[in-house]
Amino acid sequence: MLILGISGSLRADSLNTALLRAAAGYLPSTARMPVHPDLALVPAYSEDLDVEPAPAPVARLRSRIETADALLIATPEYNGSIPGQLKNALDWASRPYPDNALRHKPVAVIGASTGVFGAIWAQADLRKVLTTAGAHVLDEELPIGTADDAFSDDATLADPELSARLQQIVHNLMDHAVRRGLYVGPLVS
Ligand code: FNR
Repeated sequence: MLILGISGSLRADSLNTALLRAAAGYLPSTARMPVHPDLALVPAYSEDLDVEPAPAPVARLRSRIETADALLIATPEYNGSIPGQLKNALDWASRPYPDNALRHKPVAVIGASTGVFGAIWAQADLRKVLTTAGAHVLDEELPIGTADDAFSDDATLADPELSARLQQIVHNLMDHAVRRGLYVGPLVS
């Protein structure tokens, strides 16, 4: 199974990217989760640019979403909502309408912030955006608050309850992809 990880943060030491890596630790050997590498390169959305061929970073994003059996998106919270570049990338991925790459795609949303609420508003907004774009979004959240203290030295979540919750979300996402029939068997490599 191929799960595409998308971090809503562009910074190198992102706690949300770290959260995706922690999630990847719960995947069975039949699954892998690359993190989308170049969200920062996606240009500002304009319907004037939204023609074929799409700008290369957009084409790569759409193609990676299309190829994936499911998406796991970790979002920071910027001023009570999702970061602009994540919204921008999802606007691109939501087109062309209605046959966009996100449609019917199983997606789970998690998030980390340095505040105490763990990007809970951003996660709610992200689920709304994804649902509007036609994705099948798990009705679950994982708020990791005070996230600069949330990880152990081995890069797992220090809190056993949050760690178990993350494992459960990864499991539920895979299960969702299997039940939706988007995943047909283990990858050979
Ligand atoms: C933040 N941060 C933040 N945190 C929060 O809990 N609620 C918020 O509304 C905001 N707003 C906000 C706006 C902007 C512009 C920045 C740069 C930061 C703090 C944020 O949680 C923190 O920087 C995280 O570490 C960002 O996630 P990454 O980059 O570590 O993944």
